[in-house]
Amino acid sequence: MKKQIPHGLKSIRNDKVKKFRKAPVAYSVPKLKDFSAASLDKAADKLRSALETEAEAIDTWDQWVAFRDRWVARKNGIVTQVRETWLKNAPPSAKAGVGKAFNATKKLVEDTVDGKRQSVMRWAEERELGPPEASKRGFSTAKEAVRAIYQFERLDITLPGIPRPLGAEHPVIKTMNEIVSVFRNLGYSVQEGPVIETDYYNFEALNFPLNHPARDTQDTLFIANQESKPVRDRLLLRTHTSPVQIRTMEKLKPPIRIVIPGKVHRNDPPDASHSPMFHQIEGLAVDTNITFGDLKGTLDHAMKALFGSSVKTSFRPSFFPFTEPSAEMMVTCFICGGSGKRGSEPCRPCKQTGWIEILGCGMVDPNVFEFVKDNGYDPRKVSGFAFGMGADRVALLKYGVDDIQLFFQGDVRFLRQFA
Ligand code: PHE
Repeated sequence: MKKQIPHGLKSIRNDKVKKFRKAPVAYSVPKLKDFSAASLDKAADKLRSALETEAEAIDTWDQWVAFRDRWVARKNGIVTQVRETWLKNAPPSAKAGVGKAFNATKKLVEDTVDGKRQSVMRWAEERELGPPEASKRGFSTAKEAVRAIYQFERLDITLPGIPRPLGAEHPVIKTMNEIVSVFRNLGYSVQEGPVIETDYYNFEALNFPLNHPARDTQDTLFIANQESKPVRDRLLLRTHTSPVQIRTMEKLKPPIRIVIPGKVHRNDPPDASHSPMFHQIEGLAVDTNITFGDLKGTLDHAMKALFGSSVKTSFRPSFFPFTEPSAEMMVTCFICGGSGKRGSEPCRPCKQTGWIEILGCGMVDPNVFEFVKDNGYDPRKVSGFAFGMGADRVALLKYGVDDIQLFFQGDVRFLRQFA
């Protein structure tokens, strides 16, 4: 139940509340009745509490400017008024006491005004436009800067936008992504490895023994001044993506099915079909009972997915130290359809043979598994196939580009055509 409030009391209360809510009358400097210490104290107290109340209400720059002008303006600021009405009118006997009170009041007002300026500045700085930043951006005062912030925040959404030219996927990257996605659809996952590689991963663990002539087939770029290191620790720019086969088998137990896109380097002078830097996509599948039939079926499917269902594949024997047996795979020329001719002209990409060599592949050599035997790759239990193809070469053929250098010169007029 509500408590009954005696009749008279209620109206008194409401009156009080109303009075309290009325907008406070702005402070003005009173005349002093006398110049005693007591009345001086009382007057100074009133001034101080007015100063505090007004300072507390400030939160924008413009409010601070008004506050500053009201209190410290030379011409008719409150401090000036205090000097005029209190100090100047004080009788000689009270001058010293009033002077002291005036100085203290003046200092308090100035400190308050300045303190408030700093807190408003800090507010501006929080929007990254404090005085140092303001002048850096060509504003002479923070006031201007704060104005500019307001200007900036007033966004005109009817203005037209600024058109930015769209970038596009580089044709080689685009080709790599396409190849990767064909294998992803077969359940392969993507692995990557370092471009600066050790001799161990690039050669030794791939069954290229030290001083074996097979190393000469890959014109390697070595990092200089490493003669003091053991050969297997020496650094080089990887000549193929095959070292990632070993790195992955050290990490993941069989069965695995992976593709490895990446950048490789060889000491080949640049010409229309060679570049010291190019790209490969490697593949590796290891499981029990993987056969050469799996290799052929997988790659045949991949080529049809990449170049169209009418392409045929063909394998011929080859050699790689890390696969046995090894093969080179050919696809029927998707330019001339395998005829070797384009109309009456000879087909150049396939040199009129109707076949294009597209990748190297083979069954993983048991010697390679020996290097990762401890991670479950016992050559008597698992088998696998691997392949590696040049992504730039595929891109050249796919887009009918006749010079691999065009891919790496960064000429937008060339690159724009693939957007
Ligand atoms: N790494 C070989 C090369 O760069 C290609 C390859 C990869 C061959 C995997 C067989 C198996 O020439």
